[in-house]
Formats: sequence, C-alpha cells, structure tokens
Amino acid sequence: MTKKKLLLLPGDGIGPEVMAEVERVLAWLNESGRAQFEYETDLVGGCAYDAHGEAISDAAMDKAHAADAVILGAVGGPKWANVPYAQRPEAGLLRLRKDMKLFANLRPAICYPALTEASSLKREVVEGLDLMIVRELTGGVYFGEPKEIVTLENGERRAVDSQLYYEHEIERIARVAFDLARARGKRLASVEKHNVMRTGVLWKSVVTRVHEDYKDIELTHVLADNCAMQLVKWPKQFDTIVTDNLFGDVLSDLAAMSTGSLGMLPSASLGAKDANGRRPALYEPVHGSAPDIAGKGVANPIATIGSLGMALRYSFDLGKEADLLDAAIAGVLAKGLRTPDIMQDGKTKIGTAEMGEAIVGELKRLSA
Ligand code: IPM
Ligand code: MG
Repeated sequence: MTKKKLLLLPGDGIGPEVMAEVERVLAWLNESGRAQFEYETDLVGGCAYDAHGEAISDAAMDKAHAADAVILGAVGGPKWANVPYAQRPEAGLLRLRKDMKLFANLRPAICYPALTEASSLKREVVEGLDLMIVRELTGGVYFGEPKEIVTLENGERRAVDSQLYYEHEIERIARVAFDLARARGKRLASVEKHNVMRTGVLWKSVVTRVHEDYKDIELTHVLADNCAMQLVKWPKQFDTIVTDNLFGDVLSDLAAMSTGSLGMLPSASLGAKDANGRRPALYEPVHGSAPDIAGKGVANPIATIGSLGMALRYSFDLGKEADLLDAAIAGVLAKGLRTPDIMQDGKTKIGTAEMGEAIVGELKRLSA
C-alpha cells in the first residue's frame, strides 16, 4: 500500500485538542491495515503569527501543496484581535484556499437521529435532514479587487469590497454541484440575488446553461434572502444548494446550526483534478476556534474527525472506511455519549479525548 501524505494544521483555540483525536483515528486506520497514512504538522492562524509574523508561512504552504490532503482545525481568537489586517489569523485560511485553488466547498448539514432534540427548530422540521451546501470558495467578494479603505480629499473614509465572478468560475462550481446532486437526491437549488446584483444575473444564466448537461436534475433558482427564510421554515425541501462565496458563508452557518450540531459538521474544500487525477483538498470542521472553551478538554472532536471521514471519501477513495467512521460516530451518539455542546438530559457527559477514544472503540467493535 502506498503511503498517503497528510498535512495537519491544528491552528488555534480548540484546534489542537480536536486534532489530537484525528491523530487517534489515523493511528487506528494505520494499525488496522485499512490505510497507510503518514502526516506532518504545521502552524496556521494566530499561532503561526506568533511564531513567524504571518498567518501561514511559505514553508507550511509548500507542505500543503505537497500533501495529498490537508486537515485543518480552526483559526482565530481574541488574542489576535489587533494584529494587522493582512496578518490576521483568517488570512492563513484564505491563503490556503486561494493558493491551493480550492474553489469548491462542500458543507453537509445533517441532522443526526440522536440529536433531533438539540435543534432550536421543531423536531419534525429537522428530523432526517440531509442537505449539501456547495459554496464557491475562491471568488466573489472575498477576493475581488479593489478591496480597500481609502481616505477621500475631504478626510472621509470610504470602504469598498468587490463582488465579481467570471463565467468559468460559476460554470465549474455549478458542475461540481450538479454532479453531487446526481449522486444524492437529484435536486439542485441555485442561490443568488439576480434581482439586485449583476453577479446574480450572470450566475443564474450560467447555471441554467450548465443544466442543459444535467437534464435529469431538477433545478430551481432561489433568491438568497428567500433561501434563508426557507431554510428555517422547511429545510427538507432542499437537497443540494449551490451558491457564491458570501451567501454560502452565511447560509451554511444557518443550515448547520439548525441541525443543532455545529460541533458535528465537517467540510471539504476541493480544487480541480490535475492531469494525474490528483486533486488539491483541505478538510476542516465548520465550527470556529471556540476560545472560550479552549484548553479545557471539553470540545467536540466529531466535526474534525468527520472531516477526516470526508478526506477518506473524496481524496483517498476509501468510501468503505468513511462509512465505517460515520457509523462509529452514530454508534457512539446512540450509546448516549455526549460532549457538553450536545449534552441532553439522561445522557453521559464526556470530554474531547473520551469522545475520540469512544469512536475508536466503536470502530474496533464494528470492524471486528
Ligand atoms: C468559514 C469561516 C471563514 C469564512 C472565516 C474564518 C474567514 O467563517 O469558513 O465559513 O468566512 O469563510
Ligand atoms: Mg463562516
């Protein structure tokens, strides 16, 4: 078996704690002979700024490019609230996305049966929810130029961010979304605001054109504000959603929290396959660095372990192992084990490391 190379970037806050549990799962995968991973670790975010004065060093970027996949914990925290804008922790994550050309961000929002009561929405609204948000990740207002604050002659300051999209950027993300929808419920909602934005008009027309190649998929166009409303009203009407960088940022938090389990949801950021079939990829939990609970050993590692699961599926063609990992997570939850963020009456409260141990225990049991 050829060894697969991972770069682990634990980052800030709870990142190192949850990443330690990913290492635990990796160790089991290696020991059980199901896969052969080797990995190295580096800094990203505030910790990288403290060490190098940059949110990610060139050396770490080189490792990221060389790896078969990158797994990231989380970046940011109050400690770095006043560092220069270009060196803020989030800049490390944005550089990884941009330089690795990770244009497709897959954010599943799944309501685990064991957690239906944890949602702030009614049980019948979220029970069985399995939604995939496909977010464009390297274009739009996140990266559009000009992006600046200028001081005018009269001394007043004016800020500008630029939302811009090329046809090819919309077309390639639409194709990723149509392909995913085809493997899922065969329904795709394309989300923009063509009633106000030129980028929305172009988005809608390009997605409509790409649909010609995917006639078996039911396509609807939904305005972003209406989509937010519908996601709270009846999220199960959606199967796959494709949207731009900023709307995707907002709608994916909304959808994730409605499942009651922000600490549970993984994500994948993928680039295009090269001539050798190699595809740049970064996997990370949807949640942030949670500085308020960092270092206490109580963070939920499931989203980060689930991100490793997505890596098994999308980068390493280890679908069976990914299914096994998903089943182990579901099994541990069914046993009533809970980290504090998903704790409910009558369940057993455990910490980060115990959750990782329980998942590995369940992996062993399921594969015995
Ligand atoms: C996310 C985060 C990032 C984003 C931040 C940390 C830059 O909110 O991945 O959704 O806005 O994309
Ligand atoms: Mg976000």
